[in-house]
Amino acid sequence: MGNFFPEEIIDEIKDRNSVVDVISQYIQVKSSGRDTYKARCPFHNEKTPSFVINPQRQMYKCFGCGEAGDVIRFIMKIENLSFIDAIKLLAQRANIQLKELNTSEEYKKTMEQKMLFFEIHKKAAQFYYNNLTRGRNAALEYLLKRGLSQKVIKSFGIGYSNDSWKDLLNYLSKEGYQLKDLEKCGLIIQNAKQTDYYDRFRNRVMFPIFDITGNVIGFGGRVLDDSLPKYLNSSETPIFNKSSTIYGLNFARRHITDGKIILVEGYMDVIALHQEGFKNVIAALGTALTKQHAETLKKYCSEVIICFDGDDAGVKATIRSIEILKEANLNCKILLLPSKKDPDDFIKDKGKFAFQEQIDGAVSPIDYKIIQAKNKHNLELPEGKINFVKELAEILKQIKSPVEREVYVQKIEKEIGVSKQVIHLEIYGNKGTTPFDKNLKYSSNNKRDNKYIEAVPPAEQNGHVMAEKQLIKTMLVEPKMLELIAKGINPEDFSKGNHQLIVEYILRNQITNSELILKDLPHLNHDIEDILNIDIDHLDFSKTLEKYIVNIKRFKLMYQAKLLQNKQKELIESKKLNKEEVETELLKIGMEIMKINTEIQKLQL
Ligand code: GTP
Ligand code: MN
Repeated sequence: MGNFFPEEIIDEIKDRNSVVDVISQYIQVKSSGRDTYKARCPFHNEKTPSFVINPQRQMYKCFGCGEAGDVIRFIMKIENLSFIDAIKLLAQRANIQLKELNTSEEYKKTMEQKMLFFEIHKKAAQFYYNNLTRGRNAALEYLLKRGLSQKVIKSFGIGYSNDSWKDLLNYLSKEGYQLKDLEKCGLIIQNAKQTDYYDRFRNRVMFPIFDITGNVIGFGGRVLDDSLPKYLNSSETPIFNKSSTIYGLNFARRHITDGKIILVEGYMDVIALHQEGFKNVIAALGTALTKQHAETLKKYCSEVIICFDGDDAGVKATIRSIEILKEANLNCKILLLPSKKDPDDFIKDKGKFAFQEQIDGAVSPIDYKIIQAKNKHNLELPEGKINFVKELAEILKQIKSPVEREVYVQKIEKEIGVSKQVIHLEIYGNKGTTPFDKNLKYSSNNKRDNKYIEAVPPAEQNGHVMAEKQLIKTMLVEPKMLELIAKGINPEDFSKGNHQLIVEYILRNQITNSELILKDLPHLNHDIEDILNIDIDHLDFSKTLEKYIVNIKRFKLMYQAKLLQNKQKELIESKKLNKEEVETELLKIGMEIMKINTEIQKLQL
């Protein structure tokens, strides 16, 4: 249907739906003299009526909450419908044929066809429903055994297609519908020889699929046993488009509280949750969530709680849906069910209170991704931990707000025991891959800074860290020195993890304005402040820069040597290796230490 309604049509719809009549269908309205009416406002909680209806102006206004408008606005609000769907509903209510509203012949024809198809589907749904509920039969037994109540079977219009080739065909023909139309609706199929037709759905439990205003537009049919395919869905027709249809939205839209909607995978999940009182629940019909779905959902809710099956397919579908929802700017949370369970199993097994607890414990997309990454890697092994931190960094990079990012970094440090500095290095980048860097990056010891410094004689420590600070301050206040400094030293040459981060940031972005740096690295505010407080006026870096750089580099080399010496000590004490193996290893390490010593000497020349 075209989305455009001419002004006269909207006027006609308003004329034929008096605001008092329409509102009276929803709430109790009382005359309050002089041609006005009063009611208790349906849009906020109140004891005394402050909701006033003015029939002359065909408007309503609540003096309590300020909600006001015409009959269309009222329907949009109370039915949670879009403008177009509210118009359609009011047109239906006033028996205005929307198909007559557009003059184009082609438009008229498609509208007529749509109306006919709605009618055929409605008749078919009634037929299936009668089959199911007329007397006891295998399908009803099946549904009752699965725990559905008669009431929910009725609300969702669930039915049964008999184990027969022509039941529906005969019925609808008798009702006067053409075979070609039934075929176009996908309800009957022509045989290969093109001599005859037969019913598409046979011996299946039938779930009618509704559009937003409650028209039946298709069916999903489930087998009663384990045969395949488990579900057979209607084919695409002029009234049924899978990638835009959302199962259950016609019910759910009236039950959206706090703007939240629960997205599940299957028909049975929607129905089981609905039965237990979770009525804001919908499903995308066995397909992945599409952009169109998300755009539709946006009209009705502001947050989607994804609750897919706890299997691998469910995880994949969740990750895809998260991205789709993000693109549509819809908030989303993820509810994690125990593996191999779907929401239907869960609520049957554990009950509605347990399910409510799950909803309350739903996690953010970032949390979800972190949990998945954690499950994927074996954190007992160094290799697993390294890969985990790498994946983690990729996830955290997606967070735009530095403050939010920092919250996660701190959470992970606490929960998983990977140090903040390590995670920062991965997020903000560090190109070095020498063994020195590995030790830095992946030691899960957040006292790394101290350990590093302890490796060097105490007399050198303070002076050394001071040199680093002075050098960074120079970068900040004398940007023209930047190029010279960059040539002589790498971020990894600095001893403090936070100094590495700052230098890396400055060199990568060529930004020296400390306020800008702070915006991106707010967690380093302490260090940056510290650095800015240092006095460098007495230093002449044009003369002494080289000496500073040499000192810092020497410090790094001394640290590397110290680590190797520690390794030697461990080897000597280790009882796992035999004497020969120990000696070979010691020799190798000894060579490395010699190389480092040579470099230190070269620096001092
Ligand atoms: P039950 O086994 O009855 O509990 O079904 P379910 O609703 O839990 O379905 P399941 O989790 O197996 O699948 C989720 C949804 O995918 C279903 O509701 C269907 O929409 C769709 N689906 C599942 N199996 C098939 C199939 O064989 N063909 C088609 N077209 N869709 C399917
Ligand atoms: Mn299921």
